[in-house]
Amino acid sequence: MKREKFSSRLGFILISAGCAIGLGNVWRFPYITGQYGGAAFVLIYLFFLAILGIPILVCEFAVGRSSQVSAALSFDRLEPKGTKWHWFKWAAMGGNYMLMMFYTTIAGWMLLYFFKMGMGHFEGMDTNQVAESFSQLQQQPVLMTVFMVVIVVACFGICGMGLQKGVEKITKGMMLSLLILMIVLAIKAISLPGAQEGLKFYLLPDFGKVKEAGIAKVVFAALGQSFFTLSIGIGAIAIFGSYIDKKRRLAGEAIWISILDTSVALVAGLIIFPSCFAFGVDPGTGPQLVFVTLPNVFNSMGGGRFWGALFFLFMTFAAVSTVIAVFQNIISFAMDLTGCSRKKAVLVNIVVVILLSMPCVLGFNVLSGFQPLKPGNTILDLEDFILSNNLLPLGSMVYLMFCTSKKGWGWKNFVTEANTGKGIGISNKLRFYMSYILPIIVFVIFIWGYYEMFFMK
Ligand code: PHE
Repeated sequence: MKREKFSSRLGFILISAGCAIGLGNVWRFPYITGQYGGAAFVLIYLFFLAILGIPILVCEFAVGRSSQVSAALSFDRLEPKGTKWHWFKWAAMGGNYMLMMFYTTIAGWMLLYFFKMGMGHFEGMDTNQVAESFSQLQQQPVLMTVFMVVIVVACFGICGMGLQKGVEKITKGMMLSLLILMIVLAIKAISLPGAQEGLKFYLLPDFGKVKEAGIAKVVFAALGQSFFTLSIGIGAIAIFGSYIDKKRRLAGEAIWISILDTSVALVAGLIIFPSCFAFGVDPGTGPQLVFVTLPNVFNSMGGGRFWGALFFLFMTFAAVSTVIAVFQNIISFAMDLTGCSRKKAVLVNIVVVILLSMPCVLGFNVLSGFQPLKPGNTILDLEDFILSNNLLPLGSMVYLMFCTSKKGWGWKNFVTEANTGKGIGISNKLRFYMSYILPIIVFVIFIWGYYEMFFMK
């Protein structure tokens, strides 16, 4: 069977950007930036995106384009005979499922908040009441399950329509409207009275704050965020390399996607920080930032109900485009491994993903007694830890070593694939850097992560 292709280069770039741009940009980036001191954190994060993120992204695309299959089979196809690289497929597939185990729940919250804002649910509430409303939501497993199921079924439905008609068409439309909406909202936020303080916090680096928060912690957070935001390490974005032709070199495409991804994160910050400061909301409140503070912000704004609903709608778009991209992987795993039809893969995985998403939903209520890693943590934190602190960094190292080592796919094959076509290429001068320096940096991040999690207060 001939593999499906994207209908256009724009389709490929927007879908890969759709995979990269998600809750990591509009939810995780602002709250982590808020916690780690603002502009200085942003600079470190940008630095890691450039030196680590883009090269690893090129590795993933090259493996995807050359093997023409998902991560379930790509290593089997490209590895030298007798080697065991293909064992990595289990970690890659596990990582994709692991991400969905908590992502679908948060995406469900976004959708629910879109309806709540639109229906004027928060009107007249003060800060405490808005926060209370979020805690109450966490005590309603049935409501959370309903919204999680809506997200899962809708996204699998879109994937079931096929690559060009479903995934490409719908994601393309969503990504474009997302970008336009965000810019409108950012202009609105920047023109709020008192917004300048927020802009200063966000754009004027203060390295004193980095010291205060602990340099190791800030650097580690920035690294983790850059892996998460680019979707690298578990083959999730590699698959989109398998749907493109050989007309363009891969480094140029990776740079474009990273620029789009970074712009959305930066614009999300431009919406959130000026608003926080304009209304006296602490930007360091953590994961609740969006759910607990933004309804307040919109409450105190003229036309806030409209802008608020729009904001949560685009948050949902961003989350959904990532869910669709990862579901496309999950469906391909089943099809590549068992040769089953797309329909069967979709139907079975709807049930599997819903069941797998339940622990996260129940972790806030029925199972809240289970507090893994540290007191107060939930199942969501455990799942995020397994993915972001383990599978993503280790998987990124596997991709780097596979593409550079003679015992793997090897530098020559990698560069030949990455440099086929027109555009910006990978220079042979990068060989030492990608073979040794990058894996060592990633390894250090990993060890640091563990050290920080378990030995530092
Ligand atoms: N990059 C996605 C986001 O920012 C998350 C993601 C991570 C997707 C890893 C796929 C793989 O939301």
